[in-house]
Amino acid sequence: MRTIKVQTGRPYDILIERGLIDKCGQLIKEVSKAQKVCVVTDSNVEKIYAKRVIDSLKEQGFETTLFVFEAGEERKRLSTIADMYSCFADFHMSRKDLVVALGGGVTGDMAGFAAASYMRGIEFVQIPTSLLAQVDSSVGGKTGVDIQQGKNLVGAFWQPIRVIIDPDTLNTLPQHFINDGMAEVIKYGCIKDRKLFETLKNENAMDIIEDIIEICVSIKRDVVNADEREKGERMLLNFGHTLGHSLEKIYSYRGLSHGEAVAIGMCIITAASEKSGITKAGTTAEIVSLCSKYGLPTSDSAGFGEIAETCQSDKKTSAGKVNLVLLKEIGVSFTEPTELSKLEEFITV
Ligand SMILES: NC(=O)c1ccc[n+]([C@@H]2O[C@H](COP(=O)([O-])OP(=O)(O)OC[C@H]3O[C@@H](n4cnc5c(N)ncnc54)[C@H](O)[C@@H]3O)[C@@H](O)[C@H]2O)c1
Repeated sequence: MRTIKVQTGRPYDILIERGLIDKCGQLIKEVSKAQKVCVVTDSNVEKIYAKRVIDSLKEQGFETTLFVFEAGEERKRLSTIADMYSCFADFHMSRKDLVVALGGGVTGDMAGFAAASYMRGIEFVQIPTSLLAQVDSSVGGKTGVDIQQGKNLVGAFWQPIRVIIDPDTLNTLPQHFINDGMAEVIKYGCIKDRKLFETLKNENAMDIIEDIIEICVSIKRDVVNADEREKGERMLLNFGHTLGHSLEKIYSYRGLSHGEAVAIGMCIITAASEKSGITKAGTTAEIVSLCSKYGLPTSDSAGFGEIAETCQSDKKTSAGKVNLVLLKEIGVSFTEPTELSKLEEFITV
């Protein structure tokens, strides 16, 4: 089993191994004194994995209940959290009890937020089952929900007590969501790891997915260790995301997935910085080629003016500035505070 240690305020281990989902009860028993466990999952994941998780928990003597919500980002909202609190309270969960997030990023973000706030905070474990959740969202302790005014506007930093990653669960993940997760994997190569980028070029990522997950999680771990509350280094994880979020918003979060929007965002911002002489010549072509290899789009018909304009409402902008994440070359990234009023000119190529 591969073990990655995260040294945040509340340190925890990330465990990676095929078949781990059936051992989750034992792995949770090692770190939790809970009597009761609420497994939070969505309607798709429930059908495939909930029984295996519940059986494993029961084998270790945990009392269990299941909270299932309808799959999809539309349910990542406060009303679902309210239903979750009711489920915890009806099950008479105390401050010593535990929440298990079983599913993709939507499940992890919501279950984590409910755990962060129920009785002012109870423990939770992540069992991520989508590629995006395994390489990114289950690590780092960001939890939350969307509100009408924007995505992830309400939330809390709350670290899990363990992350249990079973790469075999990706066998049932629809290809579209594999592609989505690959955008984040490519991002890690771009910002921190030329070798990972080369591996993604030369191999089929899914053939060596355990290695890929371990590399990505280790990069995220290092970044989070250095900056748990996103004051500096952690911003690098937003490479491609500022423009990506604009695109998602332009398409009203439908029609263009998060990963697709991030892929386009990485290509546009790198074309802009390459044009300005900041980024090594040829870098954009490399990113475009890799995104295409993994089924991701690299451009969009939305105008640069509209994309820049939509950035103004991004929660990461302040005092008329946005922190753009740029590359010097593949594997070397930095942040550059940029006037929002100059963004359209900068990204227009
Ligand atoms: N907390 C963070 O640091 C962080 C980072 C990045 C993204 N996010 C959040 O993550 C969310 C996106 O995550 P996501 O792409 O995993 O979305 P998701 O949770 O909606 O999962 C995608 C789809 O895959 C299905 N699914 C998941 N695992 C499966 C499996 N093994 N087999 C079959 N189907 C499966 C789900 O039911 C869903 O339909 C967004 O809300 C985003 O804001 C959070």
